Amino acid sequence: MSGRRILVTSALPYANGNIHIGHLVEYIQTDVWVRFQKMRGENCRYFCADDTHGAAITISAQKKGVTEEEFIDGVRVAHLADFNDFGIQFDNYGSTNSPQTREYCNRFWTALRASRLVAEKEIEQLYDPEAKRFLADRFVKGTCPKCGKPDQYGDSCECGAVYSPTELINPKSVFSGATPELRKSKHLFVEIEKARAFLADWIDKSDALQPEVANYLKGQFLSDELWPWDISRPAPYFGFEIPDFPGNYWYVWYDAPIGYVGSTAQWCEKNGEKVEDWWQNPNAEIHHFIGKDITYFHTLFWPTTLNAAGFNLPKKVHIHGFLTVNGEKMSKSKGTFILARSYLNHLDPSYLRYYFSSKTTGRVDDLDLNLEEFENKVNADLIGAVVNLASRTAKFANATGLSDAYPDDGGLFQEAASKSEEIAAAYEACDFGKAIRITLECAYRANQFIETVAPWTLKKALTNLEKDENATEEARQEARKKLQDAATIGLNLFRQIIVYLAPILPELVKKTEKLLNTPITNWDDAQTPLLGAKVSEYEHMMTRVPKEGIQAMLEESVETDQKPEDENNGGKEGIAPWFDSKEHLEAEPLSETITIDDFMKVDLRVGRIVEAEQVKEARKLLRLKLSLGGNETRQVFAGIKAAYPEPEKLIGRLVVFVANLQPRQMKFGLSEGMIVAAGPGGPDVFVTSPDEGAAPGMRLH
Ligand code: MSP
Ligand code: ZN
Repeated sequence: MSGRRILVTSALPYANGNIHIGHLVEYIQTDVWVRFQKMRGENCRYFCADDTHGAAITISAQKKGVTEEEFIDGVRVAHLADFNDFGIQFDNYGSTNSPQTREYCNRFWTALRASRLVAEKEIEQLYDPEAKRFLADRFVKGTCPKCGKPDQYGDSCECGAVYSPTELINPKSVFSGATPELRKSKHLFVEIEKARAFLADWIDKSDALQPEVANYLKGQFLSDELWPWDISRPAPYFGFEIPDFPGNYWYVWYDAPIGYVGSTAQWCEKNGEKVEDWWQNPNAEIHHFIGKDITYFHTLFWPTTLNAAGFNLPKKVHIHGFLTVNGEKMSKSKGTFILARSYLNHLDPSYLRYYFSSKTTGRVDDLDLNLEEFENKVNADLIGAVVNLASRTAKFANATGLSDAYPDDGGLFQEAASKSEEIAAAYEACDFGKAIRITLECAYRANQFIETVAPWTLKKALTNLEKDENATEEARQEARKKLQDAATIGLNLFRQIIVYLAPILPELVKKTEKLLNTPITNWDDAQTPLLGAKVSEYEHMMTRVPKEGIQAMLEESVETDQKPEDENNGGKEGIAPWFDSKEHLEAEPLSETITIDDFMKVDLRVGRIVEAEQVKEARKLLRLKLSLGGNETRQVFAGIKAAYPEPEKLIGRLVVFVANLQPRQMKFGLSEGMIVAAGPGGPDVFVTSPDEGAAPGMRLH
């Protein structure tokens, strides 16, 4: 096989919970990218595995009354079923609890030791004398020392307070309920500070990271000393024992990424290939797809480990943001914490593959599943623009098959064929949204063409000729040919679009293959029209999104007995990072310094919007009425129409108001001040609000 040699991974999902739609953002994105590479003829393989180790697994297993091995076996079956039903096609799906992963843990360990990156230190930690184990912060619960709320974690409280577990009032071990005590133990640390020069260089020069990620790492990590990474845990711990430090185990995040190599090794054994050819071959590319929450594991520790062992560094770490649903964090009480299985119980997986892809940009921004938009987009694009092309033409070619020569379509097929590389480049850059936009433009043109040619009218004409005894056979032939040609064009333009969308919609590909009795395997299948093929009886390819399906899915997902998400976090620590670009500061640099007196001249007040309506005659303006409390009101004309097309939604909101601005007579009335908003303008204007508790009339200082 020629082509690039590309090894692709998604993050290994924790084996202590089910796959949910947040996870699917990543697995769908990766699967689409891999399918695209395979269609291009690249030698591309997709490896993943369950991430099975750590204390969280022990707790989950204990709750179920099974061993850890039994527990992870059960989860694995569920994970595989979910992935399979969403069309996520791995070349190998392993487990970190495998002999292959253990072997590579040993090999990387030897390399880290040889590079003198490992050091031993004594630390003091809480210990559960009944369960006879040390306790990570998350496995201690008690009353918050700041606000007094019971049942809070050892490191932080819902009230936002952070503290050390020894400050917790009445602390209890999650394992046994016993009161923990402080004990000393020896741990091994990887001193990644020693790898600073290597890391700085890689982050700066390798082009492996999105620019916002590289900036984040430089700003948040490299600007300071890199902390040693605590990599060992005393027994008991579900994981691999460290060979030269008996009684201690590798921390789950040490072996998790090594699971990528373990999974590769398993595949190589089955397929007569060599691990080195993928991980140590300078011509091989490693591509990791991960979420932003696990950035530092993959961009600091993992490259350090790989580098120590002489393995390839990632060619790209593709980092995506987090999923919100209807603009908010997924919530169990609102039913928006949707499990993959709950989705599958009610909706077609192709919808979600399409919707997520349409919102995938290759950047780190969070992504929102807006259920109304989901429904509209799928119905308008997939059904309205794409599937309709087939449903409106296939039946007319069922009797005759496709024409033997490609008819004149006014250059449409050629035009769409010429977009191939532009679409491919968008896929390569993970800008699936762009790939879809270009493809949809082809679909719109194809639909216009079908509208104009109107095969259904041609069909009527043909039927009339066939009934008309005076019609000549020649005339009938001609009419038949016209209809066959129209259908041939429609179906070819349709098939071309399906080729471009194939990485996203494998099920639709299968149905198209069946309809036209010809496989779609290669990206270049969009370059030449299909001729002379038989056309099968048209079967429904996809239905509109059933509204009641969305509703039923949400209802199934509502959980009323809201438990805090104790085990769901596995070995993860720290906060989700943010990636703020410098674009806005650059677009509008900071102004020159002013004095406090200058500032105090501006009288900023909290105001409440009590009326809001469009000014019909003005393109940009809304008319707002603000209450400053009591009977004090002000009228303001604000240029925010494009950003707030539904002004009534603003009514009731608290805003910041410039209260002592000279009033201005406008065509539509008197403007008595300004409200404060951020953003460059047009639809990107964001009205600012004070925190809860503020009241109209309060001055801002
Ligand atoms: N086990 C670790 C990864 C080890 S990789 C060597 C882990 N597991 S996880 O199950 O919590 O998450 C798996 C992937 O799904 C991560 O990349 C994570 O960022 C992603 N997502 C989990 N929840 C998500 C959202 N709500 N939205 C988008 N991606 C999310 O981390
Ligand atoms: Zn608190």
